[in-house]
Amino acid sequence: MPRLRDLPWRATRDPWHVLVSEVMLQQTQARRVVPVFERFVRAWPDPAACAAAPLGELLSAWQGLGYPRRCRNLHEAAKVVVERHGGAVPAVLEELEALPGVGGYTARAVLAFAHGRDVGPVDVNVSRVLSRWAGEPLGRAAAQSRADAAVPQGRSWEWNQSMMDLGATVCTARATRCGECPVRAHCAWRGGPGDDPAAASAGASRAQARFEGSNRQARGRLLRAVVAAPVRDTDVAATMGLADDATRASALLAALRAEGLVTVVDGWCRLP
Ligand code: ADE
Repeated sequence: MPRLRDLPWRATRDPWHVLVSEVMLQQTQARRVVPVFERFVRAWPDPAACAAAPLGELLSAWQGLGYPRRCRNLHEAAKVVVERHGGAVPAVLEELEALPGVGGYTARAVLAFAHGRDVGPVDVNVSRVLSRWAGEPLGRAAAQSRADAAVPQGRSWEWNQSMMDLGATVCTARATRCGECPVRAHCAWRGGPGDDPAAASAGASRAQARFEGSNRQARGRLLRAVVAAPVRDTDVAATMGLADDATRASALLAALRAEGLVTVVDGWCRLP
């Protein structure tokens, strides 16, 4: 029998740790999340500790994951949990969805993985599995109701972890391994010959935008430098790799400041 991958967030039911892992996993592969997750929850084991930490320290720990807005949102979410929920991550869908950076997927992941509730979180991987299984493209609402309905009563944790691993390891976006699939007999698509139903489904995976030369790359360069030491404002463009495009560099810096990810004080760009 295939087994679940051994991942550190599978050894916990702590709602805060589950939330941290799911936010990190939103746009980053599991193997890259593992070391950062372990460091993060050791340093900030509960929402109160995270809420009290300076954002700059959290961003330092976030290095390597990218999309640092997620980190700022998590910090804000921790503050809301402390202020409105007595420091305990809520177990109500609407209350979870009201937290900064927490959407329908992440909220259901916390309900399923921390509280064992019979709901089906639908991320890109799960959406792909569901539509192939159904043999037809699924819109967002159809995928969600199928995901919720499919959960065997009381087995939400195992079911949903398995759906995620199936999508990550067997029922993948490219090279599908239908020959190795343990639930092939139940699948309507089974690798074709017809079109892949996942391709036309809501939230289908699109190729990630090119990183080389992107704004994300330039922002990442500056943030990595600032985590190590403050950067002179006159060096910001060069640090971004944009020495010949000062206009773009200053627009990107303005966005990072507006997002609260860096500050500029007395000619130095630093962590907040
Ligand atoms: N991606 C999102 N959630 C996950 C989980 N719990 N395990 C593995 N990959 C995931």
